Amino acid sequence: MIEVQGVSKRFGTIQAVRDVSFRVEPGEALGFLGPNGAGKTTTMRLLTGFYPPTGGQVRVAGLDVFEHAQEVRRKIGYLPENVPLYGEMTVREYLDFVAEIKGLKRSARSRAVDRIMETCSITDMARRFIRKLSKGYRQRVGLAQALIGDPEILILDEPTIGLDPRQINEIRNLIRGFAGEKTLILSTHILPEVSMICQRVVIIDQGLVVAEGSPENLSARVTGANRLWLRVGGPDDEIRARLARLSGVVSVVAGDDAGSFIVETESEVRPEMAQFICNAGWDLFEMTPRTASLEDVFLNLVTQETPAANRTEGLGDE
Ligand SMILES: Nc1ncnc2c1ncn2[C@@H]1O[C@H](COP(=O)(O)OP(=O)(O)OP(=O)(O)O)[C@@H](O)[C@H]1O
Ligand SMILES: [Mg+2]
Repeated sequence: MIEVQGVSKRFGTIQAVRDVSFRVEPGEALGFLGPNGAGKTTTMRLLTGFYPPTGGQVRVAGLDVFEHAQEVRRKIGYLPENVPLYGEMTVREYLDFVAEIKGLKRSARSRAVDRIMETCSITDMARRFIRKLSKGYRQRVGLAQALIGDPEILILDEPTIGLDPRQINEIRNLIRGFAGEKTLILSTHILPEVSMICQRVVIIDQGLVVAEGSPENLSARVTGANRLWLRVGGPDDEIRARLARLSGVVSVVAGDDAGSFIVETESEVRPEMAQFICNAGWDLFEMTPRTASLEDVFLNLVTQETPAANRTEGLGDE
């Protein structure tokens, strides 16, 4: 349904997006994850035909988004990073205005706006001026405008940024309600958001895709091995050295507290390890498996040292 093939975007000397490729199938929810300046917004804009790529191609339902901008835009509901809301309009006037731009006939407009206000729980705000709305309600209005025209595809650029925890929850639940029904691309730098809403994640850093997969697959990949957290009473150095020689153990390093150890393993070693510790006459206080979280994956992938020449921060137009 959405195909991004070798897409690049350059602004002068800044390479914001580099040779990015991914696909999104109908009904799928894809999380587009990356730190500030990674190229998320640029990619979302390329997907919506906001500007053409410097190289590569974006196709939606087989159509090049830039060549068939009109047709493609009708299929896409877009929540931009900064929603251009008109403060002097009421919520209803604004949504009606968006519906008109999207080509809905007058008769269909009022019904569509009513339905969407209901969905986004903003019916009570219909007659409020947008400039008087709280941030959370503004974001709902932003989502509502994206939903007008019942698009097959929703592209949401950091939909929960700047909201308080309760508002975040509400917006996430609202978005989750569309999962399965609509094709969803959600950009975020918030990890739990991705695991909650998306089946698949693309991680981008400095314009490059650095990983792609299900949240679970990515977690498995980053460690390669599993990790055990141990607390053992006995001679620290000896414990470390002898445990490291056990079969199935990759490495043993000291933990933060005295007597704690982090053990990388490549197979299930817990029964043998427990036995070994007891036989050695040490005290086993704790043995806890630790699989990598999506957060570990993210940090592992995007915080590696990179040459200074690649860095491109603080040059945005926003
Ligand atoms: N119109 C532009 N002109 C020049 N540089 C730009 C423009 N838009 C983006 N950039 C640069 O491209 C890079 C990627 O920016 P982008 O906004 O896509 O990042 P992002 O992942 O959305 O970051 P954030 O999490 O801060 O929103 C940045 O270095 C940014 O400064
Ligand atoms: Mg952005």
